[in-house]
Amino acid sequence: MYQAVRGTQDILPDDAPYWRHLENTIHDLCARYGYRRLEPPLFEETSLFVRGVGEGTDIVEKEMYSFTDRGGRELTLRPEFTAGVMRAYIEHGMHTWPQPVKVYSIGPAFRYEAPQAGRYRQFHQVNVEAIGEQDPAVDLEIMSVAWDLYETLGSQGLSFQLNSTGCPACKPVYIRHLVAYYEQHLDDICPDCRRRLQRNPLRVLDCKVESCQPIIEAAPHMRQYLCAECAEHFATLLGYLDLLGRPYTLNHRLVRGLDYYTKTVFEVWAGEGLGSQNAVCGGGRYDGLIEELGGPPTPGIGFAAGLERIILTMKAQGIAIPQLPAPQVLVAHRGAAAKARAVVLASELRAAGIATLLAFGQRSLKAQMREADRAGVRFTLILGGDELAAGEVTVRDMSAAEQQRVAPAEIAGWLKRRL
Ligand code: HAM
Repeated sequence: MYQAVRGTQDILPDDAPYWRHLENTIHDLCARYGYRRLEPPLFEETSLFVRGVGEGTDIVEKEMYSFTDRGGRELTLRPEFTAGVMRAYIEHGMHTWPQPVKVYSIGPAFRYEAPQAGRYRQFHQVNVEAIGEQDPAVDLEIMSVAWDLYETLGSQGLSFQLNSTGCPACKPVYIRHLVAYYEQHLDDICPDCRRRLQRNPLRVLDCKVESCQPIIEAAPHMRQYLCAECAEHFATLLGYLDLLGRPYTLNHRLVRGLDYYTKTVFEVWAGEGLGSQNAVCGGGRYDGLIEELGGPPTPGIGFAAGLERIILTMKAQGIAIPQLPAPQVLVAHRGAAAKARAVVLASELRAAGIATLLAFGQRSLKAQMREADRAGVRFTLILGGDELAAGEVTVRDMSAAEQQRVAPAEIAGWLKRRL
């Protein structure tokens, strides 16, 4: 028996209303903020992610689905959207467009991670980017889009985690101090942290191992080492957040797992429903990324949110969603000639914009009525020998258990007045 590959899952029809509602909410919200859709391809050259996301990151070191295609190209299924969106920005000369270029995408991403609740190998993100402007008001806007998304959906108990990771001027100074501090504690930290100190020192702040926690708590904070420009940028952002009354938690341990971040970084954590995978959203500024990928120096900021995780929290919190409309009409028939007429009638009704089911096969009228009941339609249209002879259709109102005859030419209008 074939099964869905480990870490992947089917989105079954019962879950469709969640996806539809979430996607509609995203489209409406992005339009309200002036973001337009940009969909990069599912796969890109592997080196784009290696340079963009960063060589020492978990994603590049152990999570990418990379392959060589039949033409010998080294390709990777996107583990995230940002690198591809920046490639598109450069490739299409978007620096000549009015700045910032504000775009969003929705679709699957792929990471070879250990699957668990809320963590998959194929998952979906909404990804939002504002490229070409360094005003902290853009940081506020990006965070507000994320905030409004959860507010519109009705999510409860979220917390906004916020930090600044500095820039190429101040970040290395901080890293030197952090490493010097950790070197005094080499015997007390876990082997992973010892390795991180060599390859990607900021990630020591992410460590979950119990014995490392006191060391992290007493570690120097990035915010103490911000250069004047980064400190002012951060202070202005905090001022704006306070003006709007947006609650946030300053988190000196928040460094994010991708290399491109500068200045502002943030995550949204879910209060309940997700267990250990509680980040429903993560993002930040990446002012050096476009240059790193071969474009002109261009600032940018964005975030991505995991749609499966949002849906899990919506379910855990019992958030009601609009149900999708189901067909309200079924066409039943008795005899071959009536079935031919039923096929045409169902097609005409759909063309008139009425969602309609056609009973398949040659079953008894009783069996077709049971089908109509199960489908929950309001009206069953019946065509049999009598109806054909009279040039009429019998319409049965399923809730009132009443029926009447209507002329075929009038049936669409008759139904529309009642549905
Ligand atoms: P990220 O933090 O790696 O950031 O992912 C963003 C969100 O995607 C996470 O908060 C989580 O909700 C979801 N996610 C990530 N991995 C998985 C997984 N294996 N299973 C389910 N959900 C997952 C980025 O991807 C950056 N590109 C965000 C960004 C955009 N930064 C600037 N612009």
